[in-house]
This record gives sequence, structure tokens and C-alpha cells, in this order.
Amino acid sequence: MVGLLPYILAALGLASAFPLIPRQNNTGTERKLLVSTNNLILPFYFKDNTFIQSQANTTLPQVTPSWLALKEPNLLYAVDENTNATMLFNFDEVAHAVSKEPVASANGSVGTVSLAFNQDKTRLLGASYGGGAVDVWDISSDHHLKLIKSVALEVPGSNAHQALLDPSGRFFVVNDLGGHKIYIIDSKDDKYEIISSYDTPDQTGPRHGAWIKSAGAGNSSSPSDLATHYAVVCEVGNRVLLYKVGSDNGIPVLTLVDNVSTFGDAFPPTTPESAAAGELVVASNQKDIYVSNRITGNETDSISHFALEDYSLRFVDQVSSMGTKPRMMSLSADESILFSSNQNGTNGLVAYKRCQSSGSLDEEPLAVYDNSNFPLVDGQVAGPMFVMEVPVLSKQ
Ligand SMILES: *[C@@H]1O[C@H](CO)[C@@H](O)[C@H](O)[C@H]1NC(C)=O
Ligand SMILES: *[C@@H]1O[C@H](CO)[C@@H](O)[C@H](O)[C@H]1NC(C)=O
Ligand SMILES: *[C@@H]1O[C@H](CO)[C@@H](O)[C@H](O)[C@H]1NC(C)=O
Ligand SMILES: *[C@@H]1O[C@H](CO)[C@@H](O)[C@H](O)[C@H]1NC(C)=O
Ligand SMILES: *[C@@H]1O[C@H](CO)[C@@H](O)[C@H](O)[C@H]1NC(C)=O
Ligand SMILES: *[C@@H]1O[C@H](CO)[C@@H](O)[C@H](O)[C@H]1NC(C)=O
Ligand SMILES: *[C@@H]1O[C@H](CO)[C@@H](O)[C@H](O)[C@H]1NC(C)=O
Ligand SMILES: *[C@@H]1O[C@H](CO)[C@@H](O)[C@H](O)[C@H]1NC(C)=O
Repeated sequence: MVGLLPYILAALGLASAFPLIPRQNNTGTERKLLVSTNNLILPFYFKDNTFIQSQANTTLPQVTPSWLALKEPNLLYAVDENTNATMLFNFDEVAHAVSKEPVASANGSVGTVSLAFNQDKTRLLGASYGGGAVDVWDISSDHHLKLIKSVALEVPGSNAHQALLDPSGRFFVVNDLGGHKIYIIDSKDDKYEIISSYDTPDQTGPRHGAWIKSAGAGNSSSPSDLATHYAVVCEVGNRVLLYKVGSDNGIPVLTLVDNVSTFGDAFPPTTPESAAAGELVVASNQKDIYVSNRITGNETDSISHFALEDYSLRFVDQVSSMGTKPRMMSLSADESILFSSNQNGTNGLVAYKRCQSSGSLDEEPLAVYDNSNFPLVDGQVAGPMFVMEVPVLSKQ
């Protein structure tokens, strides 16, 4: 009975009254996923190595919810990358369903493509690709989205693609794809001000990254609360840049220490001019790094695996993406699976078994889900843009 309590509370909408219900990694056989693509947010189950689409989809005509962010247990934020809207949906964890309509929607900068929470999830940052800005939303009260600031990036042509909270919980890094820059924003005292920026030369186009906090990274000058590294994949140049993170009185200072191709030497793209690397994911061992290669001109695109070794990146191996345009990837909560999303080609969703010791992905996926299951948009294949596992309530 005790084990059912969280479910009963959640069903009654009371779970948020008990914020300390412990959560754990999903070690059972059934996982819950949230997937999105053009006009759709789709809950999925992943069970017995099979993707199973829930009937409870959320259809949003004319909306492209290409990024989702869950404030547990029941608030699901979504972008619309075609308009100025950021939306909030109700998420029912027990029924594994998203409300049919947004419960709140508000306009900020145009074309937001990713979202990030601050540490206590009272602020939500939206990276506006179209507007070249980072929007800061007050989400401190439920069902409420209030724009408190829009941080304009410095250069014309800026396209903010992602903002990422650092391990200290105070700083965000911002990747500016069109401005070829990386910025640091300081959230202290709710100011959200740009305090430094770094050029990424040769039109490299930083897109998505990850802070890394590696205990085995030699003698870092950083205080323990800062990251040791920042790794970012660049869409235009198809490079992975690795920065060492130092400290200037507690403020992160980035120094470029490595710069490698997103392709291993043996796997050049057929069409380097169109290639556009997409996602970067780091495992919690702070060592395995996965990067998606898109529009390579090969029959399928690929996912490269790098190992962080002190202050350099070593290409380890790669697997086929099993489709084309792998836009987004994420690890399962227990990190035994990498989920990936191909916007085009045969297979839309892909689940790879990840070896917990070597970090390598099995070439033969655990499961795929065909793109023909997703409705065409303007006669074109419109596969998934986003996939993440939803953490489960503890069953203790
Ligand atoms: C969940 O998995 C991660 C990654 O393997 C691990 O670091 C963490 O300790 C696990 N948490 C629980 C509650 O088991
Ligand atoms: C979404 O749900 C509706 C109603 O159940 C269904 O008709 C439609 O096919 C579903 N769409 C997708 C893409 O699954
Ligand atoms: C956002 O802007 C659009 C276009 O001007 C408008 O139609 C819509 O009502 C606005 N939404 C909100 C929530 O204000
Ligand atoms: C949409 O965002 C742009 C800047 O990114 C702004 O100029 C415009 O006024 C916004 N429109 C609405 C309806 O909020
Ligand atoms: C990374 O290497 C490429 C290829 O040598 C070079 O063109 C680019 O300028 C380098 N990027 C940075 C940020 O140094
Ligand atoms: C780290 O610091 C220790 C103690 O100061 C020193 O003995 C060691 O050589 C240093 N290691 C590196 C990789 O700099
Ligand atoms: C892509 O095709 C090129 C030849 O055009 C080949 O050299 C390369 O190995 C292929 N990449 C992969 C990942 O198979
Ligand atoms: C999907 O791939 C096909 C075949 O390569 C191509 O013709 C089509 O333009 C692609 N669609 C999109 C939306 O990229």
C-alpha cells in the first residue's frame, strides 16, 4: 500500500504537496519516454526492447514543439520553434499523458529551440535561435510563465541554440550558432547578465554542449564547484571543441584545449559541405561523449563516441544513426541505453545498448521505430526531433 501512495497522490494531483518523494532510476522493464516532432507531443513506452506509442498524443496544429523540459512531477514546458510562443502543458505521470492543450502560453523572442532550468527550477531559460537572445522566464508559481528578461547576444546574426546551467548552479553557457561565439551568463541575484564571451573562429557554429566535472582531470585550478571542462559540438564546422574551465575568483574562464573533427579519420562524410553535427551528450562518468552527425550524404548518418582523456578527446568508435538527421539524443536514466531521434530516413526512434564499461554503443540497436509511423508534413518525412526518458516515482 505504501508503495502505491505516490501514485494515488499523483492521481489526486497532490504529488507536488510531497516534493520529497524519492525518485530512482528506472530499473524495471518498462520505461516511459516523451517524444516530440512537428505538431505533436507523443508519450511512448519502451518495453521488452520495443517502442510502443501511447494513444494519448497531443496534437498541436502549426506548432513545432522541438524541445521539451519537465519540471517534475507534472509541468511540461515546450518551445514552438516557428513562433514566439513558449508553452506549458500538464503532464500526468501516472496516465503517462500530456494535456491536449497548453495550460499556459506566452510570447518571448522568436524561434526558441531549447530550454534549461535554473537550479531550483524557478527560472526557465529559452535559447532563441530566431531572435538571437536568451529569454528568462519566471516559473516560480505553477501554471505561470512570465518573461522577466531577454538577454540579447552581442553580434548581428546571432542564433542562440542552447543555454546550459553549470555545476555550480550560478552560470549558464550559451552557444551562439550564427554568431560563432560562446557566452557566459551570470544568474547571480537574478541579474542574468553576460559576463564574458569567446569567439569560435572559422564559422564553426557552436550548437549543443555539456559541462563536465571530472575528478580525474589532473590538477585543476577550479574551485570544486565549477566544471573542469566544457565540450561543445559545432554544427557548421563539424568540430568538437574542448575547453578547460579555470576560475577567476569563482567565475569560470574557458581555455580551448582540444578541437577535433566530429568524424573519425576512417569515416569522412560523403558531402562535407552539407554535414551539420547536431547533438552532444556526456555520460555521468564524465568520460564518454556522444555526438550526432547529420546530413553527411551517406546512406545513414552516424553517432560518434569520444573518450575524454584528461584534457583531450579521443575518437573511440561510431555507429550508424539508422536513419538521417539525428537531431537529438539522450541517455536513459540508468545510462544503459542511448535514445536517438532521426528526422528523416527509415528509422525515426533508435535505442542503442550502451556498454557501461567501455561506453561503446552496440551497432545493432535494441529497437527502432519506423518514421512511416509519424504523419508526413507537406509531403515530407517528419520524424522525431526530441526524445527523453521520464524518471519514475519510487515504488518503495
Ligand atoms: C542512477 O543512475 C546514475 C547513472 O548510472 C547513477 O549515477 C545514480 O547514482 C543512479 N541513481 C540511483 C538512485 O540509483
Ligand atoms: C493521435 O491521437 C488521435 C486520437 O486518438 C489519433 O487519431 C491519431 O492517429 C494520433 N496521432 C498519432 C501521430 O499517433
Ligand atoms: C503571441 O503573439 C501572436 C502573434 O502576434 C498572437 O497571435 C498571440 O495571441 C500571442 N500569444 C499570447 C499568449 O499573447
Ligand atoms: C517575437 O520576437 C521578436 C524578437 O525575437 C520580437 O521583435 C517580436 O516583437 C516578438 N513578437 C511577439 C508577438 O511577441
Ligand atoms: C578547429 O580546427 C579547425 C580545423 O583545423 C580550424 O579551422 C578552427 O579554426 C579550429 N577552431 C578553433 C576554435 O580554434
Ligand atoms: C598535481 O599536484 C601534485 C601535488 O601538488 C603534484 O605532485 C602532481 O605532479 C600534479 N600533477 C599534475 C598532472 O600536474
Ligand atoms: C561515408 O561515405 C564515405 C565515402 O563517401 C566513406 O568514406 C565513409 O566511411 C562513410 N561513413 C560511414 C560512417 O560509413
Ligand atoms: C529526406 O530525405 C530524402 C531522401 O534523401 C530527401 O529527398 C528529402 O528532402 C529529405 N527531407 C527533409 C525534410 O530533409
